[in-house]
Amino acid sequence: MKITKICCIGAGYVGGPTMAVIAKQNPNIKVTIVDINAERIAAWNDDDLSKLPIYEPGLADIVKDTRGDNLFFSTEIDKAIDESEMIFISVNTPTKTYGKGKGMASDLKYIELCARNIAKVAKTDKIVVEKSTLPVRTAETIKSILHNTGNDINFHILSNPEFLAEGTAINDLLKPDRVLIGGEHEKSIQILAEIYSSWVPKYKILKTNLWSSELSKLAANAFLAQRVSSINAISELCEHTEANINEVAKAIGMDSRIGSEFLNASVGFGGSCFQKDILNLVYLARSYGLHEVADYWEQVVILNDHQKRRFSDRIINTLYNTVSGKKIALFGWAFKKDTNDTRESAAIYIANHLLNEQAKLAIYDPKVSEVKIQADLNFLNSRSEKENKANTENFQSPYEAAKNAHAIAIITEWEEFKKYDWNKMYAIMKKPAFIFDGRNLLNKKEMNTIGFEYYTIGQY
Ligand code: NAD
Ligand code: UGA
Repeated sequence: MKITKICCIGAGYVGGPTMAVIAKQNPNIKVTIVDINAERIAAWNDDDLSKLPIYEPGLADIVKDTRGDNLFFSTEIDKAIDESEMIFISVNTPTKTYGKGKGMASDLKYIELCARNIAKVAKTDKIVVEKSTLPVRTAETIKSILHNTGNDINFHILSNPEFLAEGTAINDLLKPDRVLIGGEHEKSIQILAEIYSSWVPKYKILKTNLWSSELSKLAANAFLAQRVSSINAISELCEHTEANINEVAKAIGMDSRIGSEFLNASVGFGGSCFQKDILNLVYLARSYGLHEVADYWEQVVILNDHQKRRFSDRIINTLYNTVSGKKIALFGWAFKKDTNDTRESAAIYIANHLLNEQAKLAIYDPKVSEVKIQADLNFLNSRSEKENKANTENFQSPYEAAKNAHAIAIITEWEEFKKYDWNKMYAIMKKPAFIFDGRNLLNKKEMNTIGFEYYTIGQY
């Protein structure tokens, strides 16, 4: 089978950038990204590239180069499935919010809907690629749906999990550490490998069985999140012992067996995947009766919740045990820098906790809109929408946000925060002026010299 047309179902944070790069590197393949969300597709098709639904450095340039040539965004799902030889499924797989496995298992209803739709529409043989992150053995379900269509079509299922991180997605896609392809049908694996090999060196394209591929994705995220929880656990110990987390991270990171990356102590990890994927792993382990394995991984999430909570508690305790009626500026709402994604951002939980204590929040994020911030808060259902609106204010300027504030809490590690005029910031705040630096972004000595009461993670 020669691939001339690819369809990707799901135009989100993975589908959009991944397919844009595949299109860019394979100009002879027509790539169509489809989605049920018409608003999202319209934004992908917007002439104004600053209005793309996803902010990701380098993405707009690739979309500009390819859109309308061999990259298309559409709501015509059936048409794209019908005409393509290869179909990627890149829809969301959130944690279940109902029924069996609620709060732990992945909700696979969108995956199943895609499989049923492919089964209904397909008239010719297809290679179906799992791009979404899935529990091990999901391919079994997809296979069962596709192979019971009652027609003579051959479907080959591959697992090709995505390892990109938001904020660096384009670089990660252009220079991946590895591409993983799991499958049972040698020829189909080879066909997908060829598409990647137009820019990825062959030795980086790993081929495994389906189940190793599905499990490797969950395991990779679990290991990464575990590092963050590990360094955050040590950061709390630092605060009690006068050890300095930056010094400890450097010292342990220079051990080549440990490595220096992913050792930044923080307000706790956020993002749509770490928590979801670990909970999924925990659920999976429990469902096999592996309780010690489940408990081991669950602790990574428990520690992360603790880190978010203790950061907000520290603000309250330090501000003389009450933040009621006090203006607190939150710098950053995205779950990390260089993205407009706020899913599971620590900011949401920290803000919620401070609002429970009747703080007045002044929020500034260079890429996140007020609408999104309000939606994130309202989603928690902690108070009425009216109350959320009345006690939070969004600002376009960090200086306006900080004016007359008792404290600034740095939640996201945006580079621009380092470049502010902190003398000016100090001058416009109430005194004593506090900074709670949840990302260890600023220099403690400099901030103290300016006059700030400066608190950070993992430093006494
Ligand atoms: P997303 O929510 O941004 O995008 C998913 C899209 O799928 C949405 O636009 C939604 O409207 C669409 N969709 C859902 N059901 C559909 C259907 N039946 N037909 C057509 N469209 C449908 O999600 P995402 O962040 O892109 O994540 C997608 C998957 O990739 C998840 O499994 C996630 O775990 C995994 N993943 C995400 C990242 C990341 O950085 N966000 C990285 C690696 C893997
Ligand atoms: C993560 C993985 O890094 C990707 O490989 C994976 O594909 C993706 O999840 C996914 O499956 O969705 P992402 O969540 O986009 O990517 O971003 P990360 O850079 O991993 O950061 C996750 C969270 O951990 C962020 O809140 C970040 O601020 C935090 N973090 C990260 C720390 O607090 N300290 C660190 O040292 C590193």
